[in-house]
Amino acid sequence: MKLCVVGSGYVGLVTAVGFAEMGHDVVGVDNDVRKVESLSAGRSPIYEPGLEELLLRNMEGGRLSFTTDLAQGMAESLFCFIAVGTPNADDGSADLGAVLAVARQIARSLSGYRVVVVKSTVPVGTSKKVDQVMREELGLAPGVPQERFDVVSNPEFLKEGSALEDVLRPDRVVVGVDNPRVAELMKELYAPFTRNGHPVYLMDVASAELTKYAANAFLATKISFINKMAELCDASGADIMNVRLGMGSDRRIGMPFLYAGVGYGGSCFPKDVKALIHTGEALGIPMGILKEVEAINARQKEIPLDIIDRLHPGGTDLKVAIWGGAFKAETDDIREASALVTLEGCLARGHRVALYDPEAMVNLKARYDGRVTFGKEPYEVLSGADVLCLLTEWRVFRTPDWDRVKKLMRRAVVIDGRNQYDPRDLSARGIECYGIGRGL
Ligand code: UGA
Repeated sequence: MKLCVVGSGYVGLVTAVGFAEMGHDVVGVDNDVRKVESLSAGRSPIYEPGLEELLLRNMEGGRLSFTTDLAQGMAESLFCFIAVGTPNADDGSADLGAVLAVARQIARSLSGYRVVVVKSTVPVGTSKKVDQVMREELGLAPGVPQERFDVVSNPEFLKEGSALEDVLRPDRVVVGVDNPRVAELMKELYAPFTRNGHPVYLMDVASAELTKYAANAFLATKISFINKMAELCDASGADIMNVRLGMGSDRRIGMPFLYAGVGYGGSCFPKDVKALIHTGEALGIPMGILKEVEAINARQKEIPLDIIDRLHPGGTDLKVAIWGGAFKAETDDIREASALVTLEGCLARGHRVALYDPEAMVNLKARYDGRVTFGKEPYEVLSGADVLCLLTEWRVFRTPDWDRVKKLMRRAVVIDGRNQYDPRDLSARGIECYGIGRGL
């Protein structure tokens, strides 16, 4: 089948590559000329394991191309996916400016019937707005049956770092669709993905839209919940790693997303929790539970700074080494990364900061060059450091040579913001280690 995907950001690009890999003909559309040039040359603008390889393979196979020209991208496409960004507006709501602008452009470029699929994360009610603005552009009356287009909601559940795997082998595909004929088309489009038993859930449009926020808000709640338990562990001498095991082995609870740490970041959870609070309140529903999730998360991000302040009250001439700047491992994305809170707090206190991250250095340098020293490998940032903060759980940090770490640092203190190390083991090696909820 033929489709175009408007927006070549994280979701759009991986979706486009995923559909091409499954044998569909895909055109990626983006208004950023440089991005399209880079993609057309087979270079991915983001780091995502395996992405560039599949990008090249599908371009060479003639199933994937990129353009800045929407009308050209749509020319032969039955499906037009909208996968542009929905950042928070000042009041916390999702800013739909880009989504609705693309919807209008699609309407202006219609050369035949199209299925318009909203892939961007959008608040409940947005597909109706897409329908409305497209009708406006086409001079069609609201609510009157028409055969120019249909609007479908099809939220994406991919995770950065395992995005391709998530897209190619999804836990589920959620499709919100009112027209049974279009439901069949969507099932056909997703058939190659769901052959191995991954289900397509067809539902009404509003439920599909809300599902996406409900899923992300629940996962964020799980993380803030375990972080609250970690606070209790620290106050009571319990160890959150044991509590997690004991709790998570109940299948109703489950182990995933139950890791205490320096809080969640990224382009999704912080934004989507805010947007869902806004949606609830706009509907007159108190959203206290999610406000608390946000408050706990903000607090978690401050923990490394609190420990540094406690160890060095009014400290001057401190050198802080940071391992990890990305918001999680296997990505170069630093949006809302917990590491940035530590980094900026240290700079504000006048501490010297030296940082290493395996993939996020380009993004970090663009923002902090001249203010932070960047290392080429993990040990380079340690010399003369008073404290080491582990803030992203990259594998390369998992089993360091502790003797070397100790030799290089001025004072052997580790703040383990991702609970990667055993504080007792480090203590036996003469290294002070502070985890999150390790009962110390
Ligand atoms: C998240 C969701 O997991 C995806 O299902 C969703 O599709 C995506 O948002 C989206 O809406 O586009 P992502 O932001 O890529 O995916 O990253 P996650 O793996 O969910 O991690 C989010 C943050 O939570 C990271 O900072 C991570 O370190 C933190 N986290 C995760 C914890 O602190 N503890 C955990 O147990 C798990």
